[in-house]
Amino acid sequence: MGTGLLDSHGRVARDLRVSLTDRCNLRCSYCMPAEGLDWLPTDDVLTDEEVVRLVRLGVERLGIREVRFTGGEPLLRRSLPDIVAACAALGPRPELSITSNALGLKRTAQTLADAGLDRVNVSLDTVRADTFATITRRERLQDVIDGLAAAKAAGLTPVKVNAVLLRGINDDQAPELLGWCLENGYELRIIEQMPLDAQHDWSRAAMVTAEEILASLHAAYTLEPAVEPRGSAPAELWTVDGGPGTVGVIASVSRPFCGDCDRVRLTADGQVRNCLFAREESDLRSAMRAGASDDEVVERWKTAMWTKRPGHGIDDLSFLQPSRPMSAIGG
Ligand code: GTP
Ligand code: 5AD
Ligand code: SF4
Repeated sequence: MGTGLLDSHGRVARDLRVSLTDRCNLRCSYCMPAEGLDWLPTDDVLTDEEVVRLVRLGVERLGIREVRFTGGEPLLRRSLPDIVAACAALGPRPELSITSNALGLKRTAQTLADAGLDRVNVSLDTVRADTFATITRRERLQDVIDGLAAAKAAGLTPVKVNAVLLRGINDDQAPELLGWCLENGYELRIIEQMPLDAQHDWSRAAMVTAEEILASLHAAYTLEPAVEPRGSAPAELWTVDGGPGTVGVIASVSRPFCGDCDRVRLTADGQVRNCLFAREESDLRSAMRAGASDDEVVERWKTAMWTKRPGHGIDDLSFLQPSRPMSAIGG
């Protein structure tokens, strides 16, 4: 099977995404129902030591170069700065980032930067308070705006903003959101919605496509394809009005990038998922708690990669939405 996290299609995972909790303090309608979900029992969630052990094995033994902490909402994990600090002390030092809704980031951005966090991506779908409350079911827009500013001030840059467009709700707001991000020095990426909502309400027909996103931006700005090589990054980048500002479009559904995928995920309860849409998981938590050695954990993780499917297959007739929703997998 060779070294590192190789799959049977020749791809090698170097980017580890670690969900630190499945809980969230927003209730975005495209993600979960208003009442929330049945959260993981506390005992099932990896301890800080278990998380750091797996990241260490990833970095030291399996070729992981980037580690992104996700959720749910990763800032809800109180010990996040300690986890970041422990991972920053590993060699070779991985690049460390989070994907967050930015609630509470105003208070913790500097602590996280001091602990060794390199950058943040923040989910924000609108800069209108009423639309924000409609989508997230919480009146917290100002907290997100403050969190973004604190991240920039703490040097957690480039600060990226992720936006999902919902038909009839914010699909006319892409130019406004881009204008706001450019003014404030954030890199906007607009994302096609994937079938990962807990309610299973997603429909291909309702999804706002990359083509539509680009058409609405083109009406307000001059966009040119950016020359930077894209590599395995999900976002296609465009320069705006001659630059230096850019905007990204993440066309996960209409233009999948699975052939270049270099990701692997760990859920908050210690399961390896070799794809966002994986149908099976591999249980590293039970292995660790049963006393598995580092060598045994490494072998189990490598084996879990081999069966990674070539792509998500969202457009296939046989497509099955994974049983875990986005909030329990991490973005
Ligand atoms: P950067 O390194 O900052 O570019 O991070 P990123 O874009 O990989 O991370 P982020 O967590 O901000 O993810 C942004 C969006 O990209 C997510 O909301 C997903 O829609 C999409 N995405 C991230 N990873 C994957 C993936 O492995 N597969 C697919 N299909 N989409 C992904
Ligand atoms: N499809 C695409 N992106 C999603 N996100 C949440 N749910 C979906 C979905 N169904 C985005 C959020 C966040 C990131 C973790 O994933 O906007 O930025
Ligand atoms: Fe990789 Fe799966 Fe995402 Fe495709 S859908 S890019 S294979 S994680």
